[in-house]
Amino acid sequence: MNEGPFILCDNLVKIHKIADLEVVALQGLDLEVKQGELLGIVGASGSGKSTLLNILGGLDRPSAGRVVVGGRDLLKLSNTALTAYRRTQVGFVWQQGARNVIPYLSSLANVELPMILAGHAGGAARKRACELLDAVGLSDRRNHYLGMLSGGEQQRVAIAVALANAPSLLLADEPTGELDSNTALAIYQVFRDLCRKYGVTTLIVSHDPKIARQVDRVVAIRDGKLAGETVRRAPAVTGATKDQAVHEDHFEEYAVLDSAGRLQIPKELREQYGIKERARLEPAEAGILVKAVERQQVEQAAAEGGQTAGGAAKAEHRGVLGWLKSRRQKSRG
Ligand SMILES: Nc1ncnc2c1ncn2[C@@H]1O[C@H](COP(=O)(O)OP(=O)(O)O)[C@@H](O)[C@H]1O
Ligand SMILES: [Mg+2]
Repeated sequence: MNEGPFILCDNLVKIHKIADLEVVALQGLDLEVKQGELLGIVGASGSGKSTLLNILGGLDRPSAGRVVVGGRDLLKLSNTALTAYRRTQVGFVWQQGARNVIPYLSSLANVELPMILAGHAGGAARKRACELLDAVGLSDRRNHYLGMLSGGEQQRVAIAVALANAPSLLLADEPTGELDSNTALAIYQVFRDLCRKYGVTTLIVSHDPKIARQVDRVVAIRDGKLAGETVRRAPAVTGATKDQAVHEDHFEEYAVLDSAGRLQIPKELREQYGIKERARLEPAEAGILVKAVERQQVEQAAAEGGQTAGGAAKAEHRGVLGWLKSRRQKSRG
């Protein structure tokens, strides 16, 4: 189990069909998550975050591609096996408190319930429920009814409920969407503690880009594909003297290439540099330079190409491909 990622999505496609309408929610999404990783997923509304979580949790099936979780190829599981996978391997935390917990039961009863349903009633279940409530910081709220708890406390119970049957995967879909930012911060902290304590691979969907501070890695989804990734590096200490020392988080931001080598250039950068339908790739000292190309330039180049047709052998290729070609020719000659 140590070889390979815990989660592997390869060219995942999901098309939602409503009557005659087809909505492509995921369009060739590639993702790898390590065992025990705490991953944030951000993206605009409608970008496909919930669809991805539902597929990983076995609530929905993809239309094409591959999705493997803990060595199980989810596409190959029968309906019965997929239900068993969802019940035994996955814990869910939703945005709406009401979907997570039962209001007329106590915190303790809420956490015990999934264990009872799975046939583990009795002392062991009670012991684990107490341990989990302790782990989410609610040991003094065991006997409170859910209706008596604040929104943040209800989500803590929800997290304990999700972990009751010791899943290997914890999925949270905007768990802090209805909480103020301080409470949200505390909830992220709970996820972080539990991820470390139980080694459960945890995926948290969020609207909030600040989640990058709370998790190991954040991936951004845009239009049903992975667009970027932010990795938090060990904090660097800055400040002139020891007293002024500030622990600053350092983030590395990457653009993500899909399996075919496609790369998405963020809209802001495209606008800033006037890059539209076409770009020229030029080899540069430190990497590849992506330059704007005006439509007229393309048309002019095509017109010139037409005039010299027949002399194609002499044609000069500009850009990266031409550069690669000339390098190859040089190394041969
Ligand atoms: N059950 C469904 N039936 C039809 N369309 C859906 C369904 N679920 C999601 N969609 C559509 O798929 C796209 C992605 O939705 P979703 O995964 O919910 O995005 P997000 O969670 O990032 O807001 C949206 O265009 C949404 O309208
Ligand atoms: Mg959603």
